[in-house]
Amino acid sequence: MDATAIRTNVNNTFNNAYARCLTHSRKINWDIDRDVIRFRTLDSTQKFLPDSLSKVHELPFLDAQEQIFLSQIQGRTYAYIFGLSERFINSKVLEMSMQHSLGDQTALMALLQFSVEEMKHQELFDRMEVLAAAALPAGYQMTADANEVARAVLSKSTWAVLGLTCCIEIFTQLHYKESIRTNHNLSPLFQDVFRFHWLEEAQHATLDELEWQRIHDTLTPAQIDQGVDDLIALVQALDGILQAQAAADAHYFISNCSRGFSPQQQEHIHHTVLKAYRWQYIVSGVQIERFQQELARKINAAQQARIDTALAPLLAFVTA
Ligand SMILES: [Fe+2]
Ligand SMILES: [Fe+2]
Repeated sequence: MDATAIRTNVNNTFNNAYARCLTHSRKINWDIDRDVIRFRTLDSTQKFLPDSLSKVHELPFLDAQEQIFLSQIQGRTYAYIFGLSERFINSKVLEMSMQHSLGDQTALMALLQFSVEEMKHQELFDRMEVLAAAALPAGYQMTADANEVARAVLSKSTWAVLGLTCCIEIFTQLHYKESIRTNHNLSPLFQDVFRFHWLEEAQHATLDELEWQRIHDTLTPAQIDQGVDDLIALVQALDGILQAQAAADAHYFISNCSRGFSPQQQEHIHHTVLKAYRWQYIVSGVQIERFQQELARKINAAQQARIDTALAPLLAFVTA
C-alpha cells in the first residue's frame, strides 16, 4: 500500500468511527422530561448514590438513616460536579468541532451532536441538583464556580484537557455499572440518571479517544511533554476542588445530624467523604484499562513515571 492509500485507509477508519458514534447517538437519543425525570421528585428515604461510590458503608457508627443522608449529600454533589464538568467539556468539544468545519462533515456532525448532548447533560444535572436541594436541609455549599473552573481547565493544553475528558467519560460507564450492581435502596430516579447519562457518554468516550489521538498526532515531543505536565496539573486542581467540597459536605452532614459525633468520628466522616470523591472523580477513571491504554500509547516511560508519581498519593488514599 502506498502512502496515499494508507492515509485514505486511516481516514476511512476515523470517518467510520465518527459515523458509528453519530448513528448510535441518534438511535438512543433521550429527553430529560419524557425519559429521565418523568415528573418524579427525589425520595428522602432513598440513597442517591450506590454504596460502592459513596463509601457510606465504611462508616459503621452511622445508623441506616444517617448513611442515607450522607449518600444524598454526595448525590447532590455528584449532580453539581458533573454539571460543572460538562461546562468545560462542552467548550472544548465546540473548539474541536470548528477544526472539522471545512473538512470532514461527518466528524463535524458527530461532535456537534456530542456538544448538544453535553448541554442536555448540564441541564439534567442542574435539575437533579435542584431536586436534591428540595429533599435536603438548607446550608449546602458549592465550593467552586463552573465558569471559573472551565476557564482554568481550558487554559491548559488541548492534549491535557482531552485526556482528562476522556478519563471522565470513560468512568461514567463504571459508575452506571456500579448503580446496577449495588443498588440497595437506591433512588430509581438517580439510577435512571446513571443509565441515560452512560448511554450517551459511551459515544463521547469514543469521540474523545479519536480527538485526543488526532491532536496528539499533530504535536511535537516537547508539546506532548507539556501536555503531560498539564494533565498532572489538571488532576491536582480537580483534587483541590474535591478536597474543598469534601470538607464542606462533611461539615454540612455533621451540622445537620440530630446527634453529635466525637472528634475522631468527625475526622473519619471527613476522610471517608474525601476518599469517596477521589474514588468517584479520579481513581475510578485512571484505573480503567481502556483509559490506561489510551494514555500509554501516547507517552514514554519517563512521562508515565511522572504521572504515576503524581497519582500515587491519591491511589494510596483511596485503597487504604
Ligand atoms: Fe455528559
Ligand atoms: Fe460526555
